[in-house]
Amino acid sequence: MNNSVTPATYIRNLSYSLLRKLSDFLDPQDRWKDVIVSIRKTSGELRYSQHHVRRFEGLVAQGKSPTVELLSDWGTSNSTVGELVEILKSHKLLAAASVLLPVEEACRCFTQVKAALTQCKTTPLQVKVVHSKSKVLMQNVAHTIFFIYWCFSSFFYNELMEITGNFDDRPISDGGNRLGEGGFGTVYKGLLNDKPVAVKKLNPMDDISLDELRVQFNQEIQTLKVLKHENLVDMVGFSCDGQHPCLVYALMANGSLLDRLACLEGSPPLSWQQRCLIAEGTASGLEYLHSNHHVHRDVKSANILLDEKLVAKISDFGLTRASAKRTSTTMMTERIVGTRAYMAPEALRGEITPRSDVFSFGVVLLEILSGLPPADENREPQFLMEVRYDIDDEDEELTFEDFLDKKMGDWELSQVQSVYSLGCNCLHDRKNRRPVIKQVLLELKGVVKSIALDLKA
Ligand SMILES: Nc1ncnc2c1ncn2[C@@H]1O[C@H](COP(=O)(O)OP(=O)(O)OP(=O)(O)O)[C@@H](O)[C@H]1O
Ligand SMILES: [Mg+2]
Repeated sequence: MNNSVTPATYIRNLSYSLLRKLSDFLDPQDRWKDVIVSIRKTSGELRYSQHHVRRFEGLVAQGKSPTVELLSDWGTSNSTVGELVEILKSHKLLAAASVLLPVEEACRCFTQVKAALTQCKTTPLQVKVVHSKSKVLMQNVAHTIFFIYWCFSSFFYNELMEITGNFDDRPISDGGNRLGEGGFGTVYKGLLNDKPVAVKKLNPMDDISLDELRVQFNQEIQTLKVLKHENLVDMVGFSCDGQHPCLVYALMANGSLLDRLACLEGSPPLSWQQRCLIAEGTASGLEYLHSNHHVHRDVKSANILLDEKLVAKISDFGLTRASAKRTSTTMMTERIVGTRAYMAPEALRGEITPRSDVFSFGVVLLEILSGLPPADENREPQFLMEVRYDIDDEDEELTFEDFLDKKMGDWELSQVQSVYSLGCNCLHDRKNRRPVIKQVLLELKGVVKSIALDLKA
């Protein structure tokens, strides 16, 4: 977040990384088109015609971001951040506008306003009325936008403490609230207005400063606000006024795919049909992310959550930048080994491409077929992605049928073979040889269809 950006800053002076962040919000669903049709010359006439719009559209096919190209072009005039923010505001593109604003300042401002509202016993929905009374706290347009944007999904840290039994660290089975723990913090169960939620309390770590964490935090909020799909986890809100930034998600009653494949806490094994529906749902969520120019970068079974109907929901978008950075260190902590177990060769070298998500998804497919963890220090080979060499090698004893999860009873040979060969294709070392996620999804849909036909027959 760039604190030196003000409404008077020229767009041409915005950094490339800020333009990329804007593109994260404006490229999906062609939201940049709302912006382009609102840009006017000083004379008042529109700067861009339909012909220009088509030219920018054409850039997508070349792998370029229409938002970045548009802002670079508009930046050649004396256009300012203030003008851009006004346009974004008029189209309610508030998350994109917030990229241009100083977060910490807006956060302080928001906390003061929310405290004032609570004292007035006002609900966020009445904000509009109270808003005019709170004008004194709203120093500029930017804060106003942030204020509205934050009001609908933010919580006090104290509220989150209350609903999680003071972040009770005991596991749920022991009467506590802890659902799990990851690389960035601990996840707790809570009840928010009778709705079960999962609160992720982020911890600053040795190798990530609180400031860096806040950036990741913000990225997660903004990404989740823009991207909505039935196979992406739904974010309920967040809090930033306490010791720890927190993210609040809808609670996924069946936890993570990793835990369900391991039948933790005595959960029943997933059937072949359930596994295929989960794979299809995950591929569909990834296809949505990729078609909206997002690379997840941390696809793994721990980040595939399952709701009460076992519908797959992909989680953790914003935190992946930090995890990518962490994995590039030589530290071999358990977590890094775990994540390494999903990483494509080019991802290990720091390259970011949707094809690396496809590779990681290939590992998830092997987990689904075998029920085995992605990495196990006591196994040879340690990484599941390497087991395929043993299966293909006639000198090795491991057969394909040995590899299949004994806990899944209802599989059919041609279907498991299709999913296995799809998984192996996803795991091709050369990224251009891997299928794109659209193709993966298509093939999984075919398998799901054939299971449905079998069940009918
Ligand atoms: N919305 C949710 N509903 C139910 N359980 C959840 C939810 N979010 C997380 N969990 C549980 O908490 C665990 C920890 O999640 P977290 O995202 O912090 O770590 P992780 O996915 O294992 O690793 P990473 O930090 O790389 O994402 C998950 O594996 C899952 O079991
Ligand atoms: Mg996670």
